Amino acid sequence: MLNRIPKILGHLTLVASALLLSQTSLAAEQPGKALAAKIGVPWPAVIGHRGASFDAPEETIPSYALARDLGADYLEMDIQRTKDGVLIALHDDTLGRTTNIAQVYPDRIKDPISSFTLEELKRLDAGSWFNAAYPARARSSYVGLKILTLNEVIDIAEEGENKPGLYIETKVPAQFPGVEADLQAVLAKRGWLDQHPAKTAAKGKVNVANTPGRVVLQTFEKPSLELLHKSMPQVPKVLLLWIGDGYMEASSNVKFEASGAKDKAAFYAGREVKSQGEFAAWMDWAKDHGASGIGPAAVLKHGGDQSYMDMVKPWMTKMAHDRGLVIHPYTVDDAEDYKTLSARGADGFFTNRAAQLLKFYGRPSKESIDTLLRKNGY
Ligand code: G3P
Ligand code: CA
Repeated sequence: MLNRIPKILGHLTLVASALLLSQTSLAAEQPGKALAAKIGVPWPAVIGHRGASFDAPEETIPSYALARDLGADYLEMDIQRTKDGVLIALHDDTLGRTTNIAQVYPDRIKDPISSFTLEELKRLDAGSWFNAAYPARARSSYVGLKILTLNEVIDIAEEGENKPGLYIETKVPAQFPGVEADLQAVLAKRGWLDQHPAKTAAKGKVNVANTPGRVVLQTFEKPSLELLHKSMPQVPKVLLLWIGDGYMEASSNVKFEASGAKDKAAFYAGREVKSQGEFAAWMDWAKDHGASGIGPAAVLKHGGDQSYMDMVKPWMTKMAHDRGLVIHPYTVDDAEDYKTLSARGADGFFTNRAAQLLKFYGRPSKESIDTLLRKNGY
């Protein structure tokens, strides 16, 4: 019996070594998984970009309610501030593309959001443009949808059976001095800066809102990242990345018009960062100023107006992961791109098509998009 012990120990040692080896190689293949766990962010993450904005008008009730009900981990939004100081969810810095401002305030089409009161913005129709732009996905119930306040988006996140987190971008923050502190105040008042690690949603439902990673803050602007970190040091933050136009230095300054590129997607696809050193300097800056992740632009296989420059090259993802930064590329809607970019190290995606990404990650919604929209009255 005693003779057997060293032999058994020998076997156990072998098994343990093999296990350790496989865990080590797994960790090497998926470094972002451990990094995401450290900050309490789901891995891989499904970030509903402006809600489920392929199927409903961006940043409106049906878009966010659909992303929530499909099972997205996060509702993504762009924060701006009205003239009377209310934080709202809106992407563009003017109202021409996504509202009927041309009919309601024809002489204010190019005016900034900060020049409108909330009451003025609430008079606009933020849904009809979608029906005109995407007739195949149009619904009469989208006519007359309203621009939402941050508080209203929080209501949507809290109302369903799924409890998604919020992934909040300070948009054009230089136009809104103090917006970072305002954001902190709203989130604190709603209890979204408290930690809720113990609460659980119903079995099989999303529970990100009850975890330490319930809010992720994101920005393209370095000064805003610093202010976000000052106001909310405990909240995970992501620095969004872009090459050129005053952001990461490009290898060439040729403009689109002079480039000979057939479209903007082809133009951006050809835009490269000046050097690996430049990229590394941005990663170092991000890490040193409170970021726990990056949001790089990505080239999409089929092009389109969301296809930008390739900032998900393997050497780039390695640099980010080596510095402890998770990687959430924007904005990716197609299974082929999910596959390619995941293999290069993406730890989740901003997507307009949460249903597609959930399917790719093997956790598809049990109910169809149409069923969920109808259940919410759309
Ligand atoms: O916030 C990530 C992604 O949304 C950045 O692009 O222009 O859609 O806000 P944009
Ligand atoms: Ca955004």
